[in-house]
Amino acid sequence: MSTAVYPGSFDPVTLGHMDIIERTSKMFDKVIIGVLNNNVKTPLFSAKERVNMLEEVTAHLPNVEVQSFEGLLVDFLRRNDARVIVRGLRAVTDFEYELQMAQTNRVMAPEIDTIFLTTNLKYSYLSSSIVKEIAFYHGHISQFLAPEIEKRVRDKVDELTKGAV
Ligand code: COA
Repeated sequence: MSTAVYPGSFDPVTLGHMDIIERTSKMFDKVIIGVLNNNVKTPLFSAKERVNMLEEVTAHLPNVEVQSFEGLLVDFLRRNDARVIVRGLRAVTDFEYELQMAQTNRVMAPEIDTIFLTTNLKYSYLSSSIVKEIAFYHGHISQFLAPEIEKRVRDKVDELTKGAV
């Protein structure tokens, strides 16, 4: 059985991520979305919340499962008997960082390969931080997120901004 891991912060999952997940699910028997829990970034959503959101928006994809992980990505793959890391490339600016990660992972785990999917042009400018920033300034985010995720972001922003008053 071929198993791929699609890792990231997913804070929150965007339509750009969904595009990669849906395409990857057609290429492998099983896809594990790995939600990073030892993030240097301070996330808006806890790892549990990010996992729940991903489970909700991938419920229609029977070969996709979601797990959070800590530590090295290659160890997470080994624990899950996976050999392929999937990453999305949005623009040439992603390339250097992605190449460095892929090469380093390959030195640590030569049995594991990284494959890159070019992101749908519609989402090539998108990032979770941009969506969060727009939400904090009460801009429209419905074109970037699934409706159920949009609601979670709105609720979280309301909760935080009320707490700040
Ligand atoms: N559509 C929309 N946005 C996308 C996207 C897509 N297809 N692909 C990436 N992005 C955005 C993300 O939303 C994120 O935005 P943000 O910076 O505003 O939060 C940004 O691009 C970075 O992408 P992400 O996938 O979240 O990567 P990351 O850099 O946070 O994490 C890991 C990458 C998880 C793969 C890496 O940190 C890791 O492996 N960590 C484990 C520790 C380890 O093994 N380290 C050694 C690595 S060599």
